[in-house]
Amino acid sequence: MVLDKEIEKKVVDQADIKTIIKRLGKEVSKDYYDKYPILVGLLKGCMPFMGDFIKVLDFHLELGFMDVSSYHGGVQSHIDVRIEKDLSMPVRDRHILIVEDIVDSGRTLHAVIELLKQRGAKSVQVCTLLDKPSGRKIPYSPAYIGKEIPNLFVVGYGLDYQERFRNLPYVGVLKPEVYSEEDRILTNQSDT
Ligand code: PRP
Repeated sequence: MVLDKEIEKKVVDQADIKTIIKRLGKEVSKDYYDKYPILVGLLKGCMPFMGDFIKVLDFHLELGFMDVSSYHGGVQSHIDVRIEKDLSMPVRDRHILIVEDIVDSGRTLHAVIELLKQRGAKSVQVCTLLDKPSGRKIPYSPAYIGKEIPNLFVVGYGLDYQERFRNLPYVGVLKPEVYSEEDRILTNQSDT
């Protein structure tokens, strides 16, 4: 495989992902089966996870998408959060479940949750595949967490490095030589 060769180690493999999605599906179904929620996916990272996740949810729901950017291509989370694409439906009096691939600094979620609350959402919760609590700059605990990971820069299953590796079917860590010189220094710093 082409992408496989650039991965140093797997952090969450395909079997893990399947097990996690099954468990999250049960937890979310128990809480939302009678709430007709809007599941809001944050593009682009949510795509593979959200695609697999909704298939285990056997209740009525709507899908919405937003594109909110915080990383701008590299390995470090920037302070800016930009709304590139907004939801196409009103959220007033609706239950919202945000679907994320990863929560790192918490900045993206902070911005999106505030916005949806301002717009009158009845409730706003988060279901994330990965949680990296060591990266947190704004305190936040998602209601539904697939797996907590240490302070590693991970790619795959939606997560990118410079827009690549989103199509990897598992989550892993890149080999050091894949990074640009500048990012290699930053990655080493964040691992310590
Ligand atoms: C990534 C990821 C989360 C966010 C988490 O998105 O998908 O949405 O960063 O980081 P934070 O907790 O530090 O805000 P990104 O902005 O890179 O866009 P993408 O989904 O298109 O990769």
